[in-house]
Amino acid sequence: MYAEKQVVLGVSGGIAAYKAAALLRLLVRAGADVHVVMTQNAQEFITPLTFQTLSGNPVHTNLFNLIQEREIGHIGLADRADLVLIAPATANLIGKVASGLADDLLTTTIMATKAPVLFVPAMNTNMWENPVCQQNRAKLSDYGYHFMQPVHGELACGWQGQGKMPEPEDIFDCAQPLLGTQDLGGKTVLVTAGPTREELDPVRFLSNYSSGKMGYAVARAARNHGAKVILVSGPVHLTAPQNIETIRVQTANEMHAAVITHAKRADVVIKAAAVADYRPANRADLKTKKSQGPTSLNLVQNPDILDELGQNKQDLLLVGFAAETNDIRQNAKAKLTQKNLDLIVANDVSLDDAGFDVETNIVRFFSADGTIEDLPKMSKDEVAEALIKKLVTLMGQKPEGRSGR
Ligand code: CTP
Repeated sequence: MYAEKQVVLGVSGGIAAYKAAALLRLLVRAGADVHVVMTQNAQEFITPLTFQTLSGNPVHTNLFNLIQEREIGHIGLADRADLVLIAPATANLIGKVASGLADDLLTTTIMATKAPVLFVPAMNTNMWENPVCQQNRAKLSDYGYHFMQPVHGELACGWQGQGKMPEPEDIFDCAQPLLGTQDLGGKTVLVTAGPTREELDPVRFLSNYSSGKMGYAVARAARNHGAKVILVSGPVHLTAPQNIETIRVQTANEMHAAVITHAKRADVVIKAAAVADYRPANRADLKTKKSQGPTSLNLVQNPDILDELGQNKQDLLLVGFAAETNDIRQNAKAKLTQKNLDLIVANDVSLDDAGFDVETNIVRFFSADGTIEDLPKMSKDEVAEALIKKLVTLMGQKPEGRSGR
């Protein structure tokens, strides 16, 4: 989302200004061209040199700096920006913008830009909860400015409460949809991710190597394209993505119940989860001792969630994943047909750079209309983006029944 985008990072004067440096690094690594604008007070907390070094661009501090004026003009940044991110946004800055003041370069840029603006507030709890600040926030939200909620925790001033700036990774994640095309606007996409765990007793379970990375990337990509996303996640070590309804489950049966319930409000279901096909016939309530342990396991079959959706689908667009180690084409095509899918994403999990718990994937799309597309090795975010673009195309090809619900 950030590649080749012009981002203005506005930094106002709060202790959280140091975290803006980490955010800047994330943006630059993702390919954004970032121009930092600092208020006078921000420079009391962190030096412009830090941001200049990390961004590779001059840092802008003055409304009427003769050199900066000659190079970009004092509203040049506002014109060029694809996104304006204000992190941290102090009560003072929010108040000034809400009051129509533009008395420094940052407030002028915010007032002059047509790009989306995301405020990331950080301040003392009492300041955040003050009705004046809340009214200013509400007023700006009504005008179409975007806000993240400050998080609860221990504040630099010693207070416990809401007021902390969210972590840079969360800000980075939250801002992405503001850069994307909203071609899934009005659609609801349900994504499943991760493995399931089938317990043998309170300390042991059957599972698989799925990390959930692919499914989480798909959920974020769908959200970035404007969809409302419901993520049904098995047990993984990933944080819930911003602005996505995340439902945590453990077992295949729990995933089955969650998916069947929530698929009723979905236009698209993407099943990236690696669901365990079998579970132990009996789960012991107490830890099974070595001396009494079974030497073989009795297993019973779990419901095939995707198959059930496929057999009952009406205008639902259904996407499966096929994790294979051999005969990929044959196996993927068989699953596409048997489960009545619109698309299946097949990958060879025996390859080093594909499949479970790696950052990249090498996939092939098999569509119900018979077309096959081979994608090169990509990051999981890039695969997810390609999948969502493919879905948008498929939705456009469906004659009826997908225009919203
Ligand atoms: N799937 C599912 N419920 C299951 C098993 C699989 O919904 N009980 C879904 C997966 O989420 C995936 C697709 O079906 O989207 C294919 O899963 P995969 O494990 O590759 O294949 P299986 O159908 O389990 O068949 P096999 O294990 O024989 O390859």
